[in-house]
Amino acid sequence: MVQGFWKKLKKPVFVLAPMLDVTDAAFRRVIAKYGKPDVFWTEFVSVDGLVSSGKQKLEHLLEYSERERPIVAQVFGANPENFERAARIIKDMGFDGIDINMGCPERKVVKMGAGAGLINNPKLAQKIIMATQKGAGRLPVSVKIRVGDTQEALAKWLPKILEPRPAAITIHFRTRKEMSLVPAHWELARLAMKLSRKYARGGVRTLIIGNGDVKNLEEARHKIAEYDLDGVMIGRGIFGNPWLFNKRKKSVSKDEKLKVLLEHAKLYEKMFKGRKPFDIMKRHFKAYVNGFPGAKELRTKLMAARSAQEVEKIIRSGR
Ligand SMILES: Cc1cc2nc3c(=O)[nH]c(=O)nc-3n(C[C@H](O)[C@H](O)[C@H](O)COP(=O)(O)O)c2cc1C
Repeated sequence: MVQGFWKKLKKPVFVLAPMLDVTDAAFRRVIAKYGKPDVFWTEFVSVDGLVSSGKQKLEHLLEYSERERPIVAQVFGANPENFERAARIIKDMGFDGIDINMGCPERKVVKMGAGAGLINNPKLAQKIIMATQKGAGRLPVSVKIRVGDTQEALAKWLPKILEPRPAAITIHFRTRKEMSLVPAHWELARLAMKLSRKYARGGVRTLIIGNGDVKNLEEARHKIAEYDLDGVMIGRGIFGNPWLFNKRKKSVSKDEKLKVLLEHAKLYEKMFKGRKPFDIMKRHFKAYVNGFPGAKELRTKLMAARSAQEVEKIIRSGR
């Protein structure tokens, strides 16, 4: 097993989840400045796209800054050969690690046999891990999964992923079909840790990171204490709160929120102009502009903005 940067990290780890069109390169820069997690993930990228001639279209998904290290590039697909080639590309781009998405339940992804579509094809899942490890060389390979088709499935699915000995496995404690309406099944973390210990070789075992519904560091610490996990991954809790991983920050004022919202919007525009529509940035407005008098009115105005300049004008006039 190549452990790479994972070995050097102080445990337990508190890491930021990959979220397409949310934790993009612009937002990650903002987060790195105000509250850096122990590890960053990129949004997921198709290995088929990455090895194709149209790969420039995916470039924005793999941009990162030095402040985001250690950063792991997340990929998805169903073709082992393309995973091996993509892993070489990612290594050459200077990433610290590669993560394989085997949890995405979206129909388009599952239909091509990728993401959670691999749950019912464990042989291919293992081939993919091994091909990625081959292409990755000295870079550590990790995997992100869901518990399986049912809660009971984890007992069989997780060993399949542990066998090829990835450096880390993140488990979103939901089944393939469960959307975020059902609470995550954290009690399965006990089984996950037990299996990880069972598959240890020479005193080295795959790290287990739990994921699902954790809103802040305090909750993450509770989960770690309760289940003796190696770490916790937080996703949606980061919305409107780039201070989430900042251990010293206790509260954020309205002015700070608006200042950082504007900084984020400007950075987004600067980095993605002509490549990603400004509307995607608006998903963050609701989360930043919240919890103070007049927030609702301000939000309504901001939703009509078409550029960072307009955002700035609206915020200044509201002060
Ligand atoms: C908008 C959005 C986009 C996501 N994109 C990805 C992705 O690209 N790769 C991935 O592995 N998971 C993705 N996820 C799943 C999250 O990484 C995470 O597993 C899930 O949100 C549960 O964690 P949370 O309850 O802390 O948000 C996405 C989730 C959301 C809400």
